[in-house]
Amino acid sequence: MKLLLTGFNGTLAPVLARAATSQGATVIAWDRGAVSPEDASACEAWLDSHRPDFVAHLATGSIDWARLIARYAAKHSVPFLFTSSVSVFHHIPDGPHRAVDERDTEDSYGQYKRACEDAILESYPDACVARIGWQIDPERPGNNMLFALDRWQEKEGRVSASRAWRPACSFMEDTASALLQLLGTAAVGITHVDSNADEGHNFASIARALKQVFSRHAWNVVETEEYVHDQRLVGGAKLVPPLSVRLSPLRFTSNDG
Ligand SMILES: NC(=O)c1ccc[n+]([C@@H]2O[C@H](COP(=O)([O-])OP(=O)(O)OC[C@H]3O[C@@H](n4cnc5c(N)ncnc54)[C@H](OP(=O)(O)O)[C@@H]3O)[C@@H](O)[C@H]2O)c1
Repeated sequence: MKLLLTGFNGTLAPVLARAATSQGATVIAWDRGAVSPEDASACEAWLDSHRPDFVAHLATGSIDWARLIARYAAKHSVPFLFTSSVSVFHHIPDGPHRAVDERDTEDSYGQYKRACEDAILESYPDACVARIGWQIDPERPGNNMLFALDRWQEKEGRVSASRAWRPACSFMEDTASALLQLLGTAAVGITHVDSNADEGHNFASIARALKQVFSRHAWNVVETEEYVHDQRLVGGAKLVPPLSVRLSPLRFTSNDG
């Protein structure tokens, strides 16, 4: 089975590639240096030459490119998965956010992800759009909550963490496993993948648990109430374990604090 993967140089795609390979798939990574997403006919020829059985579009590329790949997958009835983001939702009105809720984002990244979702589902109504939250991993550089908090500590001498924010978040290995399940079952439509959906831990508790589990002894976690948002992505199938499975200190933390 061949899995076409975009965004291979990114944060999450290598984790997905590793998980797919361990399940016996052959991963074909899109090399944008060799096949430009701007060149539609080159893209189509390249896709035709590979004929993937599954497509996972993780790259943060153009909307046109997302549409082109979705159209290709639709034409060949190939399961297609796109990773969207919790950022399609604004903090007013507050969450938790369900798949059917209005995507009222005001920031440019959220608007871009919303436009990708629309382009993909218009081109391929049987595509799967998985909205995910902030990703966590002990090792992956890039957009990773653990390393972001390292940077905050380094720059600001503290990790400011709002107890009024319940983030959507998951460990990358769990997200990767969920994405493969969605592809393998040819899931259709918008789904939410969030390890914090049921437990609803606040960011301050999560930061303290990360500090303990990953031995970030130098972190000075300072609780604030600066960002108020129940950002959880609820209503998805139970494809990821709850956060406390990975962050055991959260087992002893009430979700109010
Ligand atoms: N990490 C998170 O916490 C998080 C949270 C919510 C949603 N997501 C979504 O999950 C997906 C993967 O996230 P990620 O953290 O792995 O992203 P990332 O680290 O930012 O990587 C994105 C990858 O997209 C490709 N890319 C970047 N700019 C591009 C451009 N202008 N045109 C075409 N391709 C471009 C690059 O891969 P190549 O050079 O290999 O093409 C890049 O490494 C993304 O769709 C992201 O929006 C991630």
